[in-house]
Amino acid sequence: MKLNSIISERWSPVAFSKKVPDDDTIQLLFRAASRAPSSFNAQPWKFIYGIKDVDTMYGYLFDLINDSNQKWVKTAPMLALGIVETVPPGRTSLNRFAWYDTGMSVGNLLAQATDMGLYVHQMGGYDHEKARKVLNLSNVHEPAAMIAIGYKGDPDQLPREIAERENKRQGRKSVSEFVTKNPF
Ligand SMILES: Cc1cc2nc3c(=O)[nH]c(=O)nc-3n(C[C@H](O)[C@H](O)[C@H](O)COP(=O)(O)O)c2cc1C
Repeated sequence: MKLNSIISERWSPVAFSKKVPDDDTIQLLFRAASRAPSSFNAQPWKFIYGIKDVDTMYGYLFDLINDSNQKWVKTAPMLALGIVETVPPGRTSLNRFAWYDTGMSVGNLLAQATDMGLYVHQMGGYDHEKARKVLNLSNVHEPAAMIAIGYKGDPDQLPREIAERENKRQGRKSVSEFVTKNPF
């Protein structure tokens, strides 16, 4: 028995190639996101995306990203912002699973991307308040993770200190550190 390769082979690169995912591929990414389970099937996720050199939205999203992330994100041909709908339409009470569900939809997008040979690198490092304003988000819409998507590129196109990140895989806690049969 071994880990599914979609899980074991996914990682977040810093260098992307110029190749742009085609429309069918992009649709599959979002269809995968839509298949995620959600509390009461509320599907409380939204995505805004743009393709580099094609969509004005790419520039809007890129400008939200902090300087250190911009240094590598500039190679990514596609940017998407995951957005959480915290209160379902027509309701007044908070959907306390909205963030959880949105994370699962992005998890599905990641799995589909990995299966199609695409790589994804998510970011929290962007200006959330500016995103609310620039993207005209209402008070029930919260920006979650910025998502860079593309095919694997040559790290040598990046400054050396960033390119070096490409060779490092992030470690993980051992299962025994986060799984227990006992109360906390
Ligand atoms: C919500 C979220 C925010 C993240 N923010 C950043 C970020 O701002 N900059 C960055 O380079 N990576 C960011 N990452 C990527 C993580 O650092 C990365 O997923 C983690 O170190 C595990 O590495 P791996 O994805 O290569 O397995 C973020 C990931 C997530 C899920």
